Amino acid sequence: MATVALDSFVAELDRLQADAVAALAVAADADAVERARVEFLGAKSGRLKAIQKLLGGLAGPDKPAGGRHFNEAKQAVAAALEAAQGRVAGAAATAEALDVTLPGEPVRLGHLHPITQTIRRVQEIMGRLGFESVDGPEVEDQWHNFDALAIGAEHPARDPLDNFYLAVAQGADPLLLRSQTSTVQIRVMERRKPPLRIVSLGRVYRPDTADATHYPMFHQVEGLFVEPGTTMAHLKSVLRLFASSFLGGDVHVRFRPSFFPFTEPSVEVDMEWGGRWIEMGGAGMVDPAVLAAVGYDPDEVSGFAFGLGVERIAARRYGVADIRDFYRNDVRFLEQF
Ligand code: DAH
Repeated sequence: MATVALDSFVAELDRLQADAVAALAVAADADAVERARVEFLGAKSGRLKAIQKLLGGLAGPDKPAGGRHFNEAKQAVAAALEAAQGRVAGAAATAEALDVTLPGEPVRLGHLHPITQTIRRVQEIMGRLGFESVDGPEVEDQWHNFDALAIGAEHPARDPLDNFYLAVAQGADPLLLRSQTSTVQIRVMERRKPPLRIVSLGRVYRPDTADATHYPMFHQVEGLFVEPGTTMAHLKSVLRLFASSFLGGDVHVRFRPSFFPFTEPSVEVDMEWGGRWIEMGGAGMVDPAVLAAVGYDPDEVSGFAFGLGVERIAARRYGVADIRDFYRNDVRFLEQF
């Protein structure tokens, strides 16, 4: 082996130690520290390893001194490495807690679902017309969903195929998910005396196959107005005021003769807005039999009622072609409202 002078061996060690300490002092993260470790202390091709090989070339009497210098340098580099490792680990922990150097991220605030927004808007508009907002249960008995609304025992609206009946104990009164919000008319009239102006918005359920205009769960706006001397003219005025507030601008309301067991006469309500007529729901004068069923005197008071589809009016207002979009929960759709 080539002979090595102790001086140059020591000088080599000093240079390595200075380089290592400098490199470790500026290493900014764990990767940089690791790169320095491999460069200086790497077991295979680290610089210290290379110098170690020179030890054998020192003259015999110089070997103890050379060995001591070597160990000192190695310990110094190891100490610098440990310090650097501790430093970057601490920095990483702090960075995880809060890295103030990261660019800001916009906070995406949530907002109300378009159907909820529509419900609140309807409540607000009807509130201005003096209609108080009330709620009713979604699980109903036959009395409120059918009997009290003059829907006879044989009426097809009761068909199990058209309703979500619930499993009840044998002999118990059948219960169902309400198929219409007209139930709330009955619940309110049972508790209160006229005059009444109420509006009720909520979910209803029918086992329809979902398509662009149907969904097995949807929402209705139910309105009820009972006072002595109420006429169809009041009904139409209220609907027109509502429609022009809700849709904005020029709206026409049209009645077409229809039939509902709980109104007489009954009409289908169409609205024209932006050059297009849309069917919005049903309405009519509350049938005297319904007033009598809740203990009102039909000779004293009369009333009108209406039931409109919330999804329909929302779709019309927002230009939504398929009501299923309201329930797909795709944020790209929902974000637009
Ligand atoms: N309940 C009816 C339906 O779901 C809609 C309706 C028609 C409600 C006439 C009313 C009304 O209050 O007077 O089809």
